[in-house]
Amino acid sequence: MTPVPSPLAALLRETIRTGGPLPLADWMALCLGHPAHGYYVTRDPLGRAGDFVTAPEISQMFGELLGLWAAAVWQQMGMPGTVRLVELGPGRGTMMADMLRAARVVPAFRPALSVHLVETGPVLAALQRERLAAAGVPVAWHRDLSEVPDGPAIVLANEFFDALPVHQAVKTRHGWCERTVTLGPDDTFAWATGPADPALAARVPEFWRVAPSGSVFEWRDEAPVTALARRVARGGAALVIDYGHVDQGLGETLQALAGHAFADPLAAPGEADLTAHVDFVAFGRAAAAAGAAVHGPVTQAAFLKSLGIEARAAALTAKNPDRAAEIATALARLTDTRTKTGMGTLFKAIGLADPALGPLPGLETAP
Ligand SMILES: C[S@@+](CC[C@H](N)C(=O)[O-])C[C@H]1O[C@@H](n2cnc3c(N)ncnc32)[C@H](O)[C@@H]1O
Repeated sequence: MTPVPSPLAALLRETIRTGGPLPLADWMALCLGHPAHGYYVTRDPLGRAGDFVTAPEISQMFGELLGLWAAAVWQQMGMPGTVRLVELGPGRGTMMADMLRAARVVPAFRPALSVHLVETGPVLAALQRERLAAAGVPVAWHRDLSEVPDGPAIVLANEFFDALPVHQAVKTRHGWCERTVTLGPDDTFAWATGPADPALAARVPEFWRVAPSGSVFEWRDEAPVTALARRVARGGAALVIDYGHVDQGLGETLQALAGHAFADPLAAPGEADLTAHVDFVAFGRAAAAAGAAVHGPVTQAAFLKSLGIEARAAALTAKNPDRAAEIATALARLTDTRTKTGMGTLFKAIGLADPALGPLPGLETAP
């Protein structure tokens, strides 16, 4: 398919012409994060008019329960006088606004906290600024977790890690090769594979190395997980919610979304969201190796129910009877376990923490 002409497509074409095929992870990083033309740099992709809807945009209940989770964890930490409340990839700021409102139930928590938003997109950062203008707590923006000042921290991330670049190794008759993007006929973008590489084969869990030709193994750079785990292991906790799997295996999950529909990941670089499932086994292993205690993962349904989403929905409905249908629909959607792709099943929650903290709310339940 001929790609939609765009400055990013021209730039990617030139990069491939001069430097050779791009590994998929580099393609994904540029499509999403190119400093001038990246998907997350140029737009607000959320909501009905955008490309996808996330849990905090479905219902205020999601952020509210996470606010209570953060307040409970702060109490577990011994109520430090200052604490960084950090969100990675805060979207429109909806979740943080709902969290801060709900956290009022623990009055001493708000005066102790400063909010730190890790965001690379200027359009979304402007929306966050607007959304949190009246929050009544200090808010600072950063491009990376490493910029958040030291000290006890509670970190939250919803649908952040799925947007980080993914690598794919493809089994060919020559061995395991990295998936790349090259130029096909008429300057279209096309899938290719790099040379067979024993270092890639070593990444594939031993059990699957003899997989048939055409098999795919996905992985991500562990550095962001390691950095998060090291940070909270020094004092604090993190809650990561995302879609992904708890049974490591072969198969590809890369997908492009545009206008709430699946798209070709190569057709319109920078114009479609690119994501891949989070491998929670690899995530937990990397976090544990970096010194954090790992809690969960549990399904989103189990996590939200254990935090009391059903009681919250009932209370909200009692206060707003005219919104009863909307609240019931949101509850059903967030906790949907009827199929493998329902949000309640597909999404998982995992906690990383200072090993001194002990069990974290909602994460010790059966999955
Ligand atoms: C799928 S959206 C999720 C937004 C929000 N958490 C929610 O649930 O509505 C991904 C978010 O991560 C941000 N983001 C993506 N890649 C990033 C990166 N490398 N560093 C910081 N933020 C990033 C995006 O701009 C956006 O705010």
